[in-house]
Amino acid sequence: MKFFIDTADLAEIRDLAATGLVDGVTTNPSLVLKSGGKFVDLVAEICRAVPGPVSAEVAATDFATMLKEGQRLAKIAPNVVVKVPLTQDGLKTCKALSDAGTKVNVTLCFSAAQAILAAKAGAAYISPFVGRLDDVGSSGMDLIADIVDIYSNYPAIHTEVLVASIRNPMHVVEAAKLGADVVTLPPSVLKQMYSHPLTDKGLAAFVSDWAKTGQTILDQ
Ligand code: E4P
Repeated sequence: MKFFIDTADLAEIRDLAATGLVDGVTTNPSLVLKSGGKFVDLVAEICRAVPGPVSAEVAATDFATMLKEGQRLAKIAPNVVVKVPLTQDGLKTCKALSDAGTKVNVTLCFSAAQAILAAKAGAAYISPFVGRLDDVGSSGMDLIADIVDIYSNYPAIHTEVLVASIRNPMHVVEAAKLGADVVTLPPSVLKQMYSHPLTDKGLAAFVSDWAKTGQTILDQ
């Protein structure tokens, strides 16, 4: 399973990239608003910090402008993935960009029917939003199960299931059980994944007992 991080905060991206666990980055207009900075320059910096796929979202909602924006974003770096919304114009843009060799991430997916259309349009990634579905009383993970299942019926589909809108480590575990290709994690969730109180307690005991041995490994 690939780990993308879901942030446009460059300092945080650099910090997490140094762990060696980050395969890519996803951004969206709300994350760009939070981080500030000129969008194209920011994407260029992120692409330098992380060699894997970096999703950058178009701002327009009509086909002609989305296509131009997508072409502009794709020129920033070879690892840019253009993100488009799951609308009729968005999928038309996805098809045009994909046919021209640009990778596209189709975002704001909330149904299996939408995911089928994205695959048909040649998307490199489909981004179902599990947290936002859970927030309205639906099951985000049921949607992931459906999409993984449907795509597996068609070996010609190469669209990767990118689980988005993740709220907690259990979303990651559930996505992994279902065989999703990618999870995009808010930095806070990636950090939470390390934590377990028994790890902290066990380590404290080992450190204390080791000190009592009076030994140092590097002197031996
Ligand atoms: C990523 O591609 C999505 O834009 C993001 O995961 C949405 O997360 P949110 O629902 O927490 O805003």
